[in-house]
Amino acid sequence: MRRRAQLIPWKVAGRLSERQADADRVVQVTGWVFNNETGHELTLAEFVTTGDAEVPVYLRTFGLESAAEAGQTFVEIGCGIGRMTCAFTRRFGCVYACDLDAGFLERCREAVGRFGRVDHLETIEVADGRSLDIPADTADIAFSYITLQHCDRDDALALVAEAIRVTKPGGRVALNFRSWSAIDPLVLPAGAAMRALFRVPGVGPRLSRHRAATRLAWQANRLDPHQVLRAVAGRVHDTTIWRNPQRAAAVPGADRAAHFEGINPNHWWLVATVH
Ligand SMILES: C[S@@+](CC[C@H](N)C(=O)[O-])C[C@H]1O[C@@H](n2cnc3c(N)ncnc32)[C@H](O)[C@@H]1O
Repeated sequence: MRRRAQLIPWKVAGRLSERQADADRVVQVTGWVFNNETGHELTLAEFVTTGDAEVPVYLRTFGLESAAEAGQTFVEIGCGIGRMTCAFTRRFGCVYACDLDAGFLERCREAVGRFGRVDHLETIEVADGRSLDIPADTADIAFSYITLQHCDRDDALALVAEAIRVTKPGGRVALNFRSWSAIDPLVLPAGAAMRALFRVPGVGPRLSRHRAATRLAWQANRLDPHQVLRAVAGRVHDTTIWRNPQRAAAVPGADRAAHFEGINPNHWWLVATVH
């Protein structure tokens, strides 16, 4: 399979993570690709703490908490090195942590081994960037955060379809996207040009150490709510589009629009029940 350009910044960061001597060093060198924090003193423990703080907020806000969690199966699409996965494994009986980079998945297992429940973890490599090697009707919840915006548009929509396929009827999906903003007509072509540079042998690993280059390279798509709602029509119901209160315009096609200060103004979430 030809390596597609939008996968390269992640693969390069994954290889960089594999070369680090210990998990704290991984967070110092590549942690910023996940939570935008930089510094030579960062530790894996602090990194996981950011996920520990976010997980209950999202689960509570989106109505995904339940007394039955310990018996439930959770799918996380784009787990990275386990920033949020640790908290998910402490709550849910089985967590399928999915990512395109096998190096990240190894680090995710290590993070969960130290800060979560590794006996609740299954890691799944998304080798083609668009399909999940998980049987249909497996999950009670499928969740994805800051990942679908980094995929090719068709891959993002394929992963949305996969999230629905692997979720049981009556289960929920909570999927995060990035909308168009005023600077995107400049940012997206610049991102495509940067990804082309990542293909040049020897250049990608050097570029991947620079935040500006990587942040540009991973700008792969923007999807607005009506585009995703159209793609999932008939497969989900009880649809809520969650956004920041600054983005209060109506959302045609959704059952509900809801707002939460904690959502980045350029992001939005689809929370829905699977038919
Ligand atoms: C910004 S990180 C977010 C990680 C995690 N959700 C968090 O909040 O820490 C995006 C992750 O998505 C993964 N990713 C990007 N494109 C993907 C794809 N097509 N399929 C699966 N994972 C993908 C990257 O390897 C990376 O680990």
